[in-house]
Parts: sequence; structure tokens; C-alpha cells
Amino acid sequence: MDSKMNDSKIIDGKILSSAIRKKIKKFGDELNKKTSKVPGLAVVLVGENPASRVYVKNKIEKTKEVGFNSIEHRLDHDVSEKQLLDLVDKLNEDKNVQGILVQLPLPKHINSDKVLDKIKPIKDVDGFHAQNVGKLWSGLNSLVPCTPLGCSIIIKSILPDLSGKHAVIIGRSNIVGKPMAALLLAMNATVTICHSRTKDLNSVCKEADILVAAVGIPEMVKANWIKKGAIIIDVGINRIEKNNKKILVGDVDYDECFDFCGKITPVPGGVGPMTIACLLLNTLLTAYTQFDEKAPDLSSFLE
Ligand code: GUN
Repeated sequence: MDSKMNDSKIIDGKILSSAIRKKIKKFGDELNKKTSKVPGLAVVLVGENPASRVYVKNKIEKTKEVGFNSIEHRLDHDVSEKQLLDLVDKLNEDKNVQGILVQLPLPKHINSDKVLDKIKPIKDVDGFHAQNVGKLWSGLNSLVPCTPLGCSIIIKSILPDLSGKHAVIIGRSNIVGKPMAALLLAMNATVTICHSRTKDLNSVCKEADILVAAVGIPEMVKANWIKKGAIIIDVGINRIEKNNKKILVGDVDYDECFDFCGKITPVPGGVGPMTIACLLLNTLLTAYTQFDEKAPDLSSFLE
């Protein structure tokens, strides 16, 4: 049998995320019955970045599907930093908005850190505000960045306790690498973060029981980087051309690594849908807080 037919190795993010979104809808409907309020998610897109446009379209579609209000703001590429900051201020004060997401990357003339720090921490459904970052690293309750939260849910569904396990992350971004490290530490893993200046990257990866690839380099991780039986989480979404066809591939050479790993997330259909489910989860969790209701435990969404 071709081992790639071995479905049990493939982590299906579409199935997992769909189950979570169903629970979010159920809890959201109950919250609405109790409070007569509907959680609102404001998404701000600046410019015409094609990948960002696709991500935002998917986020808006799924927001509506779970019954939340979607508030959309599309701004020209040359909007000033002041105009964007003023919009964030307005959304901060809007009682119909519980979550604010400013899609990254922003144009070069805008200071992203300034914009992200302008978002009220309680509405920061991306978990990028310095206050939420600090809380995450201190082990306090906070809004957690969506992609690493999605990855941690995937990993937890396979291995609930990572005691004694070595997790290796490739990539040190604020969006994925660093918060992923904080979450894996909280799950008792021993964590290594690698990046472009790491020496002998492949031998470090070969030590990983859990390997998270988030570098943005198509199919960089090869079969001889993988420890037999490792769990591979591929965060990369790269558009490339193969055999005259435009396709999406991850940061992991899926075909090469498949035979060596224990489990692997495909691209597309692995981490991507989990990111959106976690955005909606964060929106619902912060809506409970803003509506003065007690939020259910995170585990209620994963049963
Ligand atoms: N760009 C790529 N990933 C993300 C994300 O998770 N949130 C935001 N706001 N922008 C992104």
C-alpha cells in the first residue's frame, strides 16, 4: 500500500475546525438568548495584498456562518497612519464591536506596532497587544494569537501532555513562533526556537518529537530532518508553480516527510482552518467578558 494512503497520519484541520465552529455557534446562540446581544468582529484590511484579501474573505465568511456580526473596513493602500489609528479608536469605543483584527502586513508607511498597541487589549482577538503577550508569557489568562492557539489544539488532540517531549519551532515571528513557544512550554514541552541564524538547523529538527514549521520557505523541511514518528505541524502557506500549475505548499516537503513522521498537517486543510476557528473562539470568549457573562472553559469547545 502506498503509505500516503495511510489517512491516520494526516491531521485534518477542516474536520477539527468545523467541530469547533459548530460549538462556537451553539454557545454563541445560547449567549444571545441570555443577553439579546450578538458578538461583533471588526476586520480592517488596508491595501490590495492578494493573500490578505483571501484570508480576510474567509474570516468574514466564517464569522457570518457562526452567527456573529461582521464589521468590515477596507482602506486604500495610501491611508495615513493617523486615519487608521482613528478608526481603531472608533472601533475600541463601539459597543457593537467585541473583537478587532487589523490584517497584517500593513503598508510600509504605517507603524504596525503602533496600530496593534492601539487596539484595546480586551478587543485584541489576535492576541498581539503587548499586554496580552506579557500575560501569555506569565501564564495568565489572555487572548492568545490564533495560529499558534490552533496548532496547540491540534497537538493537544494527539498528545495531551508533552512532559518529556522536545518541541522544535522553526521561525521566531511575533505572530507564530514566539507565542507557539509560550504555549508549548505551558504544555510542559522542552522547547527550542530556531531561525535563520541557527547552526545545523536540520540536526536540531531531527531531535524534535514535535516540529512546528513557520518560516515561509516552500518545502524547506526535508525527510532527513525528521525524527521517526514525529508530529509535524506545517504553518507555511506558499504559492508556487509546479508542472505549470499554481499550487499551495507548506514549509515542509510533505511527500518526502510523510513516510517518516507519526502525524502531519497538510497544506491546505491543516493549520489554516484552525486559525479562523480560533479567531472566532477568541471573539466569543471576549464577548462573554464584555457582556458580563461567565465564559465556558476552553475544553468545552474541544470535546
Ligand atoms: N497576517 C497573517 N497572519 C495573521 C494573523 O493571524 N492576524 C493578522 N491580523 N494578520 C495576519
